[in-house]
Amino acid sequence: MKKTLLAVSVSLSLFAMAGNVHAGSIKAGQDKSATCAGCHGEKGNSLVSMYPKLASQNEEYLIKQLHAFKDGSRNGPMMASMASGLSDEDIEDIAVFYEAQKVTRNALPPLELDDDEISDDLTGEQQAELKEKAAADKQVALEEREAMLARGQDVFINGHLESEISACIACHGPEGEGNKPAAFPALNGQHADYLIKTLNDYKAAKRTNSSENIMRMIAQRMSAEEIKAIAYYISTMK
Ligand code: HEC
Ligand code: HEC
Repeated sequence: MKKTLLAVSVSLSLFAMAGNVHAGSIKAGQDKSATCAGCHGEKGNSLVSMYPKLASQNEEYLIKQLHAFKDGSRNGPMMASMASGLSDEDIEDIAVFYEAQKVTRNALPPLELDDDEISDDLTGEQQAELKEKAAADKQVALEEREAMLARGQDVFINGHLESEISACIACHGPEGEGNKPAAFPALNGQHADYLIKTLNDYKAAKRTNSSENIMRMIAQRMSAEEIKAIAYYISTMK
């Protein structure tokens, strides 16, 4: 008798659990994300480079991060209050909405140039000289940008053996598309400024909710230059 009761109550609670399983709704998520749009953009493509893009990010990763902001395990002063008001169902709806959006492309990283104004007071010869110098500087800046992106790409694909940095593609995918079942985030098309900030947060142990501290282990081996190169490379991935 006891056994049957137990069996009945177990199957009842399983039934109740199944009843609670909520598959997110894109439409509901769109409505619920209205308060997020001011910072993250209407469809998850934020215009401010310190606010991460959420468009096309996988649902699993978004859910994990929103819970982390909510329970305080991920630090984010702006996000803590935003996430605290969301129920589990809201989080799932919002996550499927963002996953279904397309991430926009970024512009190429800016060239590092000081633009000297060419004053009309100068003689024709002086002006010509300055123009020549500006053209040469631009050429150098273009080459430096190319070298930086190539370096970022190399670390992304191959890692860096000497400093024991794992290849990013192993977890984030060859196109930076992430790994949905594993909840590894997509990176492609993210803003470079946010990537630099968040990699430095991992490095300084300000962002610590990564399981087994994977990203801290990796980021703490990266130099500032490497972080910059890889962030800009990722920002140009489509
Ligand atoms: C006032 C601006 C602001 C608003 C409004 C806002 N966010 Fe954020 N959000 C941020 C900032 C800044 C970060 C980066 C936090 C950090 O430094 O790690 C962030 C990070 C996130 C992340 C983590 C992204 C990643 O790639 O790890 C998610 C998910 C997120 N926000 C979802 C939301 C949702 C959902 C809402 C609406 C309910 C919302 N945000 C509203 C500013 C905002
Ligand atoms: C062993 C798997 C693994 C490898 C290798 C790896 N990552 Fe990650 N990465 C993760 C996981 C898991 C997360 C999410 C951690 C969390 O919850 O904070 C993450 C998060 C990130 C984020 C934060 C994304 C966001 O939207 O906030 C960045 C940026 C990142 N990784 C960059 C890199 C770079 C660059 C490399 C290569 C140098 C790399 N990762 C290698 C597993 C990995």
